[in-house]
Amino acid sequence: MKSIPIYTPQLSGNETKFVLDCMKSGWISSRGKYVELFEDAFCTFTKSEFSTTVSNGTVALHLALLALGVKEGDEVIVPTFTYIASVNAIRYVGATPVFVDSEPEYWQADVEDIARKISPKTKAILAVHLYGHMADMPAINALAKKHKLFVIEDAAEAFGSYVNGQHAGTFGDIGTFSFFANKTITTGEGGMVTTQCPKLDEKIRLLKNHYSLPDKKYWHDEIGYNYRMTNICAAIGLAQLEQVENILIKKNKIAETYHRGLSGAPVTFQGTKPGAVHSQWMVSLILQNEYAVDTQIEKDTTIKRDALIEYLSARNIETRPTFYPAHTMPMYKTFVERNSTYPVAKKLGQRGINLPSYPGLTQDDILHICAQIKNFFKAGSKTKVQDKIQTQNKVQANAHI
Ligand SMILES: Cc1ncc(COP(=O)(O)O)c(C=O)c1O
Repeated sequence: MKSIPIYTPQLSGNETKFVLDCMKSGWISSRGKYVELFEDAFCTFTKSEFSTTVSNGTVALHLALLALGVKEGDEVIVPTFTYIASVNAIRYVGATPVFVDSEPEYWQADVEDIARKISPKTKAILAVHLYGHMADMPAINALAKKHKLFVIEDAAEAFGSYVNGQHAGTFGDIGTFSFFANKTITTGEGGMVTTQCPKLDEKIRLLKNHYSLPDKKYWHDEIGYNYRMTNICAAIGLAQLEQVENILIKKNKIAETYHRGLSGAPVTFQGTKPGAVHSQWMVSLILQNEYAVDTQIEKDTTIKRDALIEYLSARNIETRPTFYPAHTMPMYKTFVERNSTYPVAKKLGQRGINLPSYPGLTQDDILHICAQIKNFFKAGSKTKVQDKIQTQNKVQANAHI
C-alpha cells in the first residue's frame, strides 16, 4: 500500500546546486553570499523592509521579544490554540502569557477576547497565523495602537498568506517565520525575523550574533546569542524562494481538491475570511458534532478524531491532530485567568485534523485520502474504535456518523 506522509518538501529546484556551491567554496557557516541573497529575496517577496535569517522559528520569536524589551512582569497576549513555541518564547524572557480564545471559523485569536484581556501590565500582543490563514491584523493593530502595545506576528505557518494584499509578518512591529521541513518554504531548520524599523533590525542582528559590534572585534555591550543561520541553509532557502509561486499554486489546488472530495462528509474546513489569501500550509478541518455542548460528548469527539487518525494511519496515510490548547499543558495550567474557559480553542484542539498538504501530492492521492475519510464515516460502527464510541454515545444515539 502506498504511503502518504503528512509533508515532504519540494526540493526540485536549485537546492542541490546551491548547497554544492557552499561545499565547494568552503562557506558553510553563517557567512557567505547566500545569507544576504536569501534575506534580500525574502524582503522582495514579502515586501518587508528588513529580513534577518535565524536558526529556527522558535529563536525568531525569542529575538522578537528580546528586541522589544519584553521582560519579567510584562504580560503578552497569545492565543491558547497555537504551537507551543509561541508560548514558550514568552516564558524565555520571563514574561507572562495571557491566553485568549480563538474564533470558530478561521481559528485565529479572538480579537474581542484580546480586548478583554488587556491590562496595565500588557506589553505586547503575539498574533499567531495558523495553518496558512492570518489573524485579523487590521483589528489587532488598531487595538495595539489604542493601548500602545507592541505587536509580534508569529508567521511560521503563513508564508504566502495575505490580508488585504499585505503579506503576513509585515503588519506588526516584528514578524517571525519558520523554515522547518514541513513549512511552505524550507531551509531544513531555519527562520526569519522581519521588521519595518531599522533600529529593531539592527538590534535583532546584534542579538542573534552575541551582540558582536561590527567595528570592535570581541567586544560585546549586551548578552547576545548564537541564533545565526548557516550559508548552507540560506542556499536552500534561496532555491526554495525561486520556486515559491509554483509551490503556492500547487498547495492551493490541493486544498480545492480536498474541499471537492470531501463535500458531503461530516467535516468543516478552516474558513477563508473575505480579503484574506489562505496559503493552505496545512489543509485542516474539524469533525462536525451536533452534540458538542455536552462535556461528556466533547470527550468522545476527541476519541472519534483520534480514531480517524488511527484509521488513516492503518491505511498508510499520515495526518496530525490540531494543537492541544497551550493552557491545558502542565507548565501553563497556572497561567489560566479565573473564569477563562476557551471553549473554541478546546473544540478546535479536540476535533481537528491536518491532512497531507505537500506540493508533490497528486490529485489521485488526495482523492484516495478523501475516499478513505468518507469510508471511515460510512464504516463507522464496524470498526473496533467506532464500536467503543457507539457504546459511549448510546444515550444520545442519533444520526451522528
Ligand atoms: C506557529 C508556530 N510558531 C513557531 C514555530 C517554531 O518554529 P521552529 O520549529 O522553526 O522553531 C512553529 C513551527 O512549527 C509554528 O508552527
